[in-house]
Amino acid sequence: MTSMNRRNFVKIAGAAGAAALLAGCDNGGDAEQTPATDDTADDTPDEAPYTLVKEGVLTNVAELGFSPFEYIDEDGNTVGFDVDLSNAIAEKLGLTCEWLPNQAFDTLVPTIEQGGKADICIAGMTITDDRLEHVDFSDPYLNSNQALIVSASSDATTESLNAEEIQIACQTGTTGDEWIQENLPNATRVPLSDVTAGMMGVSTGSYQAMVIDLPVAQNMLAQSFSDLKILEEIPTGEQYAIAVSKDNPGLLDAINDALAQIEEDGTMDELKQKWFGTTDI
Ligand code: ARG
Repeated sequence: MTSMNRRNFVKIAGAAGAAALLAGCDNGGDAEQTPATDDTADDTPDEAPYTLVKEGVLTNVAELGFSPFEYIDEDGNTVGFDVDLSNAIAEKLGLTCEWLPNQAFDTLVPTIEQGGKADICIAGMTITDDRLEHVDFSDPYLNSNQALIVSASSDATTESLNAEEIQIACQTGTTGDEWIQENLPNATRVPLSDVTAGMMGVSTGSYQAMVIDLPVAQNMLAQSFSDLKILEEIPTGEQYAIAVSKDNPGLLDAINDALAQIEEDGTMDELKQKWFGTTDI
């Protein structure tokens, strides 16, 4: 309710071109870390204050090669479902959004844990017990599974891939990486920083398979890798959520509040339709 009021306030002020009114919400340039809530008269007192790396800005960090969740388009812009979602959250909080340069996936949780660089990580990141020891997660925003990818001409079975001479690519530190270790322990796992490099490797025959999140596999096969196929959809039952520092519980609350509004007002369905062509994901 509170954030909704603030959002409407920002929107109306923006529509009226009242730059002076917005000045308090936008980044002034070299601002220091500051409590960002309770800056409007209509606030109710039930919202804990939170801190931001940069005043007026929700600073995001992610690995940016995970289409359609976050990737760099031909014009060099950071785009994707998570990017739109983060923008929608920021709008509800009266903030703007910024993205740090691409970072390896397995550095994201440590970056949030250490603090000082980014406020949130939204990166198609699955809630796991290990990660929960280091960061907090928002309420989940999307369900996901894994996919086992092979060359379209391959006659491999999942069982036949569990052999030492078989090289299976994954993105380092992901749940797909873990899945290989637990389920195909005899295979030679090839952890890579870049998902596309893994798919290229399967395409050229350097690796015999890759394990990666199903929606990303479906998207990238449809866009760029028609010579690959999904051998098996693996029902891991994962949930994506936003990672926030354990030292910033007020921000976690504000994000959950914004997410609930985004579910309720139809924004989430709009974004799913835009990026996946269906709301049924
Ligand atoms: N969902 C998987 C995980 O959390 C993979 C996420 C990879 N995300 C990315 N932006 N590269 O481990």
